[in-house]
Amino acid sequence: MITIEYPAVGFGTYPLQEEVCAKAVETAAQVGYRIIDTATFYENFVPIGQVLKRLGRENFFLISKVWRDHQSRDDLLQDISMTLEQLDTEYLDAYLLHWPNSQIPIEETLSTMAELQKAGLVRQIGLSNVTIHHVKRALETGVAISWVQVEMNPFFYDADLIQFCHKEGIGIQAWGPLSRGKISHDPLLAQIGKKYDKTASQIALRWIVQHGCIPLPGSQNPQHIQQNFSIMDFQLSEEEMEQINARAKNGQRERVTKEMIGWEDEFDFTYEQCWPKNWSLN
Ligand SMILES: NC(=O)c1ccc[n+]([C@@H]2O[C@H](COP(=O)([O-])OP(=O)(O)OC[C@H]3O[C@@H](n4cnc5c(N)ncnc54)[C@H](OP(=O)(O)O)[C@@H]3O)[C@@H](O)[C@H]2O)c1
Repeated sequence: MITIEYPAVGFGTYPLQEEVCAKAVETAAQVGYRIIDTATFYENFVPIGQVLKRLGRENFFLISKVWRDHQSRDDLLQDISMTLEQLDTEYLDAYLLHWPNSQIPIEETLSTMAELQKAGLVRQIGLSNVTIHHVKRALETGVAISWVQVEMNPFFYDADLIQFCHKEGIGIQAWGPLSRGKISHDPLLAQIGKKYDKTASQIALRWIVQHGCIPLPGSQNPQHIQQNFSIMDFQLSEEEMEQINARAKNGQRERVTKEMIGWEDEFDFTYEQCWPKNWSLN
């Protein structure tokens, strides 16, 4: 097996589209980012594909995610085919379920993903927006789960999930690592940052990296893109990590409700409700 090492900060591409997206990804690549995160939902495959092709696809670790309503076998096959075509690539480095959908048997979804992996279309498989219950249930299928992508920032993190995934050898990708920009105004992080001559955002990203996780900050601002990558030249103390942990453990995650989008997230599901074995949900 060939192992390629990438810098541990990835680039998030939501909600960037068209020329703005192409420019941002190009800037990120120049700065040194090698992990790029996208999803069918973001509708930005074409500009990303064009940039990566120009810069050498093999130099990047490309992640995409299949939407919640497309996780049956037929829908997955359709999604991967469209994804690869629009990205103009022969494979994804990681293919993730964007949101768990316990109405669709996980055995069907993951066995189809395993087929894609065997065929070389997908190198690694992952889940997103899950709890420890989903991960335990998914692991029961016997399909190797390499990644979990979840919200993680100094305002919220699921410490138990991260500990469990690390124990199982599953990598964590952190979405919303800057809490959609709100982190940059945080007094605690700004104060810690003074000591290292770093911004509050850089402290947030460094905190994620020191947890052994990969932050995926998104930005269309070249200064921010550069700044978010410059976090490997300092180290937060144990005390500072604990200070940030203490607040983040008690924070509130972002939720998806029926009123917002027509369906609900599964963060409150018990283990039995995650992909129930008798397939009768309600
Ligand atoms: N799996 C999922 O369900 C899921 C959900 C959400 C996001 N994601 C992924 O995770 C990525 C990141 O998450 P996110 O976009 O929600 O939020 P984020 O990265 O936490 O925040 C992005 C926002 O922060 C601002 N920003 C970036 N760097 C900054 C800096 N150094 N100082 C001040 N402001 C800064 C950006 O504005 P400027 O453009 O002005 O810099 C943008 O408005 C997405 O792009 C996407 O790839 C995945």
